[in-house]
Amino acid sequence: MNHFEYRDGELYAEEIPVAQLAEEYGTPLYVYSRATLTRHYQVWTKCLSPQDMICYAVKANSNLGVLSVLAKLGSGFDIVSGGELERVLTAGADPTRIVFSGLGKTQQDMRRALEVGVRCFNIESVPELNQLNRVAEEMGQIASISIRVNPDVDAKTHPYISTGLKENKFGIDISEAPAIYAQAAQMAGLKIIGIDCHIGSQLTELSPFLDALDRVLHLLDQLAESDIKISHLDLGGGLGVTYENEIPPSPAELCTALKERMGSRPQHLIFEPGRSIAANAGLLLTRVQYLKPSAAKNFAIVDAAMNDLIRPALYSSWMNISEVDRNSANNGERHLAIWDVVGSVCESADFLGKDRELSIASGDLLAVHSAGAYGQVMSSNYNTRARAAEVLVDGNQSILVRERETFEDMIRGEQVV
Ligand code: LLP
Repeated sequence: MNHFEYRDGELYAEEIPVAQLAEEYGTPLYVYSRATLTRHYQVWTKCLSPQDMICYAVKANSNLGVLSVLAKLGSGFDIVSGGELERVLTAGADPTRIVFSGLGKTQQDMRRALEVGVRCFNIESVPELNQLNRVAEEMGQIASISIRVNPDVDAKTHPYISTGLKENKFGIDISEAPAIYAQAAQMAGLKIIGIDCHIGSQLTELSPFLDALDRVLHLLDQLAESDIKISHLDLGGGLGVTYENEIPPSPAELCTALKERMGSRPQHLIFEPGRSIAANAGLLLTRVQYLKPSAAKNFAIVDAAMNDLIRPALYSSWMNISEVDRNSANNGERHLAIWDVVGSVCESADFLGKDRELSIASGDLLAVHSAGAYGQVMSSNYNTRARAAEVLVDGNQSILVRERETFEDMIRGEQVV
């Protein structure tokens, strides 16, 4: 459920007609709903015991407005870079609720994370383990760690967002994990606290999560035999959302099924959801520039493009696109037809949606739904297009949480020679 809905044929974000936001802030514009973010976070926490924790995956949407909404709710954060660490600290995160994932942490990242006191480093290779041990020893500190294991299960999702197969670059082969845990147990700068596992994103079935947990539990039992104590299992993110007609399990269904498998084991759980919190809390508003019908194809050329939202181009993702104003009486010029909704970037991959039935005229607004996750964060300045503005709606208030980029922003640090 989300807080974007039609009232008398007009699309609203909470209590504000989105057309009003387009007038005020211009397009393309990312619009987020505070109520939806809050609801999604709470849907997750409702399934958990008090010691369990949600560490929102910052990569999905790292806008400071969004992060601060979640920080105020008490969310933890899953970060993958020094930049994300600074973002969550700026947004008011509690460092003891931060887990640090990612397979290429630099020494500088490690130092800073130890300095602020993050809860856990999720380690993805032996050299990284050695490096963290050295850095921690140099600082006279002890770094808490979990090892991200690769359980070799098929997440049954798009190959680019599947991470738990042997051929993926992520994690340590689960069969090698006992030996590496034994090594880590000998390192003076490290304290083992968890096991970590993330198998992919946009998962729409329970079975891959359960298969992965079974393998993690087997490892947990092996470690117990070697007297290695584990206090938490971090089961990553990955729960899918509905873009078109997918019916993913709810967080409650997922948690219940996982807890059942856990049985009476005392370890607490960490989840790192990104998409299931942010995707349906946001949409991208864009305006139709030109209509270009032809015998072969009808193109609606809009002012957002692949540089604003790359998911359709990169993963062939289907994202719902709808008219903001469905009262056809408001505009007699509209053409009801099957349109390819495209941007103006010089790439044939630059489309937001293909073969969409829409009734539109130039100047009309369109909304690309479920764009709150992996939207603005993956945007670029390709074709020297300024990044879109972002606005957070809270009831009948809107807050500009990121200004539209200017030409000056785009050339900052460059030099004419
Ligand atoms: N934890 C780790 C270690 C991850 O790598 C990811 C996502 C997450 C958590 C959050 O997963 P989520 O709950 O959002 O599925 N750009 C792609 C998605 C890439 C996901 C990368 N890792 C897309 O637009 O579909």
